[in-house]
This record gives sequence, structure tokens and C-alpha cells, in this order.
Amino acid sequence: MKKLTTTLSICLTAALAATTPLLQSCFKSSAANREVSPDGALSVDVGVKDGRLFYTVARKGEAVVDTSYLAIDAKEAKFGANTRIKDIAHSSFDETWTQPWGEEKDVRNNYNEMRLTLAEESETPAEFAVVFRIFDDGIGFRYEIPEQANLGHLTIMDENTEFAIADDGVAWSIPWNHEYYEHLYGTSPISRLDTVCSPLTMKIKDNLYLAIHEANLTDYASMNLTPQPGSTRLRTMLTPLSTGEKVITTAPMQSPWRTVIIADNPGDLMLSRLMLNLNEPCKIADTSFCKPGRYIGIWWGMHMKDWTWEQGPKHGATTENTKRYIDFAAENGYDGVLVEGWNLGWDGDWSANGDKFSFTEAYPDFDLKEITDYARRKGVKLIGHHETGGAAKNYEKQMEDAFALYENLGVNCVKTGYVNLLLDGKELHGSQYGVRHYRKVIEDAARHHIAIVNHEPVMPTGLQRTYPNLMSQEGMRGQEYDAWSPDGGNPPEHTCILPFTRGLAGPMDFTPGTFNFTNKAVPGTRPNTTVAKQLALAVVIYSPVVMSSDQIQNYNGRPEFEFLKTCPTNWDKTVIPEAKIGEYVTIARKERDADNWYVGAITNASAHNSELDCSFLPEGQKFKAKVFADGEGADYRTNPYPVAIYEQVIDSSSRIPLHLAPGGGAALIIKKI
Ligand code: NOJ
Ligand code: CA
Repeated sequence: MKKLTTTLSICLTAALAATTPLLQSCFKSSAANREVSPDGALSVDVGVKDGRLFYTVARKGEAVVDTSYLAIDAKEAKFGANTRIKDIAHSSFDETWTQPWGEEKDVRNNYNEMRLTLAEESETPAEFAVVFRIFDDGIGFRYEIPEQANLGHLTIMDENTEFAIADDGVAWSIPWNHEYYEHLYGTSPISRLDTVCSPLTMKIKDNLYLAIHEANLTDYASMNLTPQPGSTRLRTMLTPLSTGEKVITTAPMQSPWRTVIIADNPGDLMLSRLMLNLNEPCKIADTSFCKPGRYIGIWWGMHMKDWTWEQGPKHGATTENTKRYIDFAAENGYDGVLVEGWNLGWDGDWSANGDKFSFTEAYPDFDLKEITDYARRKGVKLIGHHETGGAAKNYEKQMEDAFALYENLGVNCVKTGYVNLLLDGKELHGSQYGVRHYRKVIEDAARHHIAIVNHEPVMPTGLQRTYPNLMSQEGMRGQEYDAWSPDGGNPPEHTCILPFTRGLAGPMDFTPGTFNFTNKAVPGTRPNTTVAKQLALAVVIYSPVVMSSDQIQNYNGRPEFEFLKTCPTNWDKTVIPEAKIGEYVTIARKERDADNWYVGAITNASAHNSELDCSFLPEGQKFKAKVFADGEGADYRTNPYPVAIYEQVIDSSSRIPLHLAPGGGAALIIKKI
């Protein structure tokens, strides 16, 4: 599957003294302690000051990250405190690889690498390495601790990696350790942040946007960032284990990559594939079971309190109800039906009693075999559901049987969930404990040809490159908050921030598509959008598997449903004609292996007049655009329902005026004539 054009040039292996300021290099014109991006615009310099290892980053010679120290503090040894640079090796790499699904089909992975071989000369001498990769759109670096005499076991108490941002700016962030990242993003100066999760997105000036995150989080703790008081110097704060250590491991080990995307504008943050490139190539030989698609669910009904998860007079997951949903899916071209509340264990306070869940035994009014047979005849898949209530051990005990059961019945996508502040009553989701558990789920599911949509996860870090069966995750305030959140639901700007923050970490299972805003259970809470914006979110919020959120009766007789039920979920290419974080964003995506384009444009609480620049279309060809826009008088507060639908013939020189209502949006289907 790989179109590989790799150039690898390794040079400079002379041993170097700690004090050597500049070293001979045979790579381009860079000094040995400097490496540049392939286009030459970004540069990283490294050195040692008073024994402490540091790096800096510049763009076109202008500082982006000032002197920032690199250190790991383990019980057994310190790294970066009294360091000597033994060797710096440079190399470069260029390949283009193909994604089985994604926002782009082909991804270019092009970087220059600088590998520092280091000696720690403190009481416990140790060897380690720091590897930098410099891309045109940012940098990544990681620590490597090789196997060595006297150093087997490693108890990491702290990782003190710094990102000393050269200037203050605006940061969009959520606080660390708040209910599995289900929080609204706030803005503040970088210098006034509290401890926050990554991705951390920052605007430094009009043409400089940064996003700090991590890639390939494997057997380690997730990274958070704490500014040093009153400064823009951010330091890593790893999510601890309940016993206080951050990571318990053995050498050889590699940390996750620490990443900084450096972009001219917000759209380019979203188009960076640096995180994916820093993950390992696909480990699944045949990914054909990792199928992008759209589904509906026995889901919103429970969130609206029309139905219950547990058995009783209002049980949602009945055989009869599920068959109705399967019929609707078949009639409307949906690929699947999610059914929550089908299995034993939902009675009582399920999120506190997760170890009561059975993942193999259905409630008596849900006939799993009959339903999967029925679905197969109709060409629809059942989407499985495993809510664990955070009882990870209970889930691990049953996982093999649970996945085998689904696999035998032809179910190959399962939504998982961890509604509990702690896993197994003691560990944080983002701790090494959680990271290990979530990885086990992905790997075990893959063996059973099952794809995973994970709710209440650890923040994603691009593992879907290695395991494309990890198809989508939550880790944000999704549409469910528009059903029951006491604060009235997600405010209109929320979805104008998500693509530039949480979205940088990977696909988001947001579940847009609510058409009926009446809420008997929590009056006053509902999507703070127009219906046209619900459509546009299907393009804007990227996920390869997307559930249309509403109950099926709310789609009947609604012409705008055409957009929701036909919008693809897999793309060749993504273009961002305009974007302003928190205000508006327009995204155009080309359908995978087809000539069609789909566009979503959304705004915050203010109306927005936009002109869609169609220069993303190939020149010299005519297309028919079907526009689903906010209708006359639409306003998310008073009149969310009007949708105007019209068609026009366009080409690459067209400019389509789009008027987005307050809290509104527009969605377009563009097909070649
Ligand atoms: C929380 C999930 O985010 C939601 O989608 C699901 O319905 C409930 N947990 C129950 O599992
Ligand atoms: Ca959730």
C-alpha cells in the first residue's frame, strides 16, 4: 500500500565533547547542533547550559520557542541534569503513505532528523538519546533510554520538558483532569494558564499559530502542560498513577513524541499531519473491516429520557425497536444501527457499579441473534456497545468472549465507554494504567476484526495510523450535552473551537444531526444551532464513522435529511477556505475515490456573511452545487428550523455567497455534471 520514496542520509558520527558549541556537519549547510525543516523555514538548535540539555525553535530566523530544557527525573537516574552530548547524527526522510480512511488519502511524511546521543554524568551515570524531527509544519521530539548496565527498572517521577513560547498570545484550553476532557474551551493569555490538557492551541500573532500535543502515546502517561508562574514557559505535567509515580517501565524505552505544529493560519493547524507521521505504520495486515460509514442509534431516546438503558416499560433496546431502526437504516442508506442498553448490568447506578456489566448476556427482550440475522438480510450492520462504567478489569476479563461473540455474529464495530471519574475506582483515564488498558482494547479488538469508537478515552495521539481499527473517539463535550446539560447545552462557539483544539488529536465522535429541538426532560437545553448548522457539522467535525444523533421519526418528511444521510465520511482531500478560531470555519472535502465535494460552513452566535471560493474544484469542469442554507428568519435562539435548499451550476471560478444565521451554517453537495 505504500508509495515509498525514501531518501536516508545519515552522517556525522564523530564523538563530541559537551562544550563543543558548533560541530562539523555533512548535512546541508546546517551546523551539527542545528537542524532545519525540508523547506528551510524552521530550525531547531540544541545545546547544554550548566549541564542542562536545551533546545530552541525559530521560524525564518525569528524565535518561536526560546531556550527550553529537556529532562526526565526517574528514581533510578536523572536525564538532562548533567548532560554531555556525545554525538549528533543527521538524516532525512521522505515518503508518501496511504491512509485506509481519513481526511486525505495520501500523506507526505517529509522531515530532517537530528539524533542526540547523550551521556548523563551525575551520580548514576546513564546513556540516553533525544531525537528531533523537523517538518515543514512543525517539530516532534522524543526521549529514548536504551538498555544499559545498572539500569533496568525505571520509575519516572516527572518529565520536565519545556516549551518556552517566545511571546505571549491567546491560548484555547481545557483544564486537565476534568471528566475525560468533556469541558468547554476557554481563552486566556498563555502566561495566565492553569494546568491544561494538550492539544494546547495558541495564537501568537496574525501569522503565527502553535499547537502543542503528543504523538504515539504508548505505555506512558498522557501529557498536560503547566506554565511557570507568570511566564510563557510551559512545562509537562504527566498524569500520575494513584501511587504518585508517573510511569513505571524498564529500559529500553521511548517516550511519546512531543509535538509543536507551527502554522501561518488556523486552517493550516488542521491540515498538519505531523502527529500521524510520528506514529508507526499500520500493524493490521487487512484493514478492510475498518469501514467508514454512517449509522443511526437507539441512543438520543435515552438521553431525552423517552427510553431507558435498563429493562422496564420504556426499555429502548428491544428486538422490535431495533428492527424498526434497521428498517429505517436500510431505507435511507445508513450502514449501521448502534444499540445501547442491550446487555445486563444497566440497572441502578450503573456508572458506579460497572463491574456488574455483562458483555455477553442480553436482556430477555433483546434477541441478539435474531437482530443480527435480520440486519444482515437488510444489508445493515449492528454497531455493538460496551459501556464499562470505568470497570476496566471487569471488561478485560470478559473482552475475549465479548469480541468473539460479536465477531461470530458479523458485528465489526463496537462503541466503548468509561463513564466514571476513575478506572477501577482508583486510576485516572490519562494515567499509564488507562493508556495500557485502552491499548489492550484496540489490539484485542483488531484480532477479532472489530473497529472501536471509544468514549471517555485518554486524549488521542494518532494511534489510528498504526491501528486503523481505532476509528473515532470522544474526549470532548459532544452533542449529548445538548440533551441534558444543565447549562443549556454547548454554546454556538464550541464547534467553532473544537476543530482547532481537540480535533488536532484525531477523529471526533461528536454525533451531529439533531433535527427536533423540543426537550421535555430538560426544557431550555437543546442544540444551540440552526438545523442547517447540524448538517454542516457532518463535514466540519471529522470522523470516519458518524452517528446521526436524532430519533428516526424526527427525520421523516424533512427534505434537508438528504444531506445528513448521503454525506460521505471518507475523503481524498481536505481544503479550508476560511477559518477564525471560535468565530467561523468553512471546510471543503473531496469524497474518497469520487469527483464529488462536500462543504460545511459554520458560525458562532453571530451571523456571518461568507463567500465560498470554489478554486478547490478542478479547472474547466462544470459542477452542480446543492446548497442547504439557513432559511428566511433562521436564528439559533428563536427560529432554528428554516432550511433553504437550492441548486446552481458552478465551476472553479465561482464565488457562492453564503449567509450564515446566528448559530447557523450551510452545507453543500457539489457533483460533477
Ligand atoms: C456516555 C457516552 O458519551 C454516551 O454516548 C453514552 O450514551 C453513555 N455514556 C452511556 O454509555
Ligand atoms: Ca461522554
